[in-house]
Amino acid sequence: MWPITALCLRLFVIHRRRWSSIFVVVSSLLLLLFLSLSGYLEVFFSRTLPIFYPNPTQLSPSRLANVPLPPFLLSPANACSPPPLLLILVSSAPSHRDRRDAIRQTWGSLSSSTASSSLTLFLLAVPETAEERSALVHEAVTHGDIIQANFTDSYRNLTVKTLTGFTWALQKCQGAQFLLKTDDDVFVNTLALATFLRPQRGLLYFGRVHWHAAPFRDPENRHYTSNQMFSSNYFPPYCSGTGYVVSHDAAGHILQEAGSGPWITVEDVYVGILAKAAGVAPQHVARIAGSASIPHNICCYKTMFTSHQLTPRGMREAWNMLKEAKDHWCPPLTLLFCRTFGQPLDNAGNGDN
Ligand SMILES: *[C@@H]1O[C@H](CO)[C@@H](O)[C@H](O)[C@H]1NC(C)=O
Ligand SMILES: *[C@@H]1O[C@H](CO)[C@@H](O)[C@H](O)[C@H]1NC(C)=O
Repeated sequence: MWPITALCLRLFVIHRRRWSSIFVVVSSLLLLLFLSLSGYLEVFFSRTLPIFYPNPTQLSPSRLANVPLPPFLLSPANACSPPPLLLILVSSAPSHRDRRDAIRQTWGSLSSSTASSSLTLFLLAVPETAEERSALVHEAVTHGDIIQANFTDSYRNLTVKTLTGFTWALQKCQGAQFLLKTDDDVFVNTLALATFLRPQRGLLYFGRVHWHAAPFRDPENRHYTSNQMFSSNYFPPYCSGTGYVVSHDAAGHILQEAGSGPWITVEDVYVGILAKAAGVAPQHVARIAGSASIPHNICCYKTMFTSHQLTPRGMREAWNMLKEAKDHWCPPLTLLFCRTFGQPLDNAGNGDN
């Protein structure tokens, strides 16, 4: 980028009269292209959002207590002592045992005592069959990392799953400063994320921001949102559910808004709507991939905080790469490369769980 800009400037000096305006325009366009491809333009725009948001609401224990959520059936006792800097809640389905095991053996293996100071727990609800129910209890006893609440485990109940996760964090893990909500097909560079989070202060809600997503009005679509649930043509900006971070206080502000108004079944969209009501603006972070699956490449896993759509095998490969990455030199503009050549999902922009 800079050599090109320098060349443009030099040519500008030589051919000042004739070409000057063309070179200025071309180099400005290149700069703009770089900023938008690497995500920095969105980072900039998201920083202006608080101007358009209401002031943050007050935290009120009585409002929090009034949010109608099912009780916990499994809750990992003592998992949170000592409390981690970052509590990672992975939304998972009962049948995804292989994905949970891959996470346990890779990035989820890091604990509060390591430099990443993260704790990874899985969010589940009640499976349909008795066989699955007892397998889950057995898994919870073996690993001590499952939070289960009493509601039917289904795609259209994902909002309940996320909000019970927020509740668990607020009630049972008060010392955790940050909460990452993610899915069981996402690779997380916990160490890099923790390093980024450590100096952050205040009410935070950040991830890959979707700016102008429209509700799906077809009842057959799994992201269906009825007019009764949400009548406007566009959702407010929200962070992709594949990986977003909220600070401890922001989780409380967001959760207490859920007590009023209809629930929306698209989890990440609903959190964005609650955040807006609470006066907590989303911030775009270029190193969170969102629904994109980044190139399977050592420098991308080192640079990005998350990557989407990994199989258990891909997860192990990525983890092995990341272990080698500490002493691995990565070229400048790695972020630009990883974002530009990531594979977006078809349904990106709307509840990409
Ligand atoms: C869980 O919910 C079911 C009904 O949905 C109820 O029958 C059962 O008693 C509940 N269990 C607990 C422990 O709350
Ligand atoms: C969500 O969970 C509730 C409580 O268990 C259940 O009654 C409802 O049927 C579930 N919804 C879906 C769409 O599965």
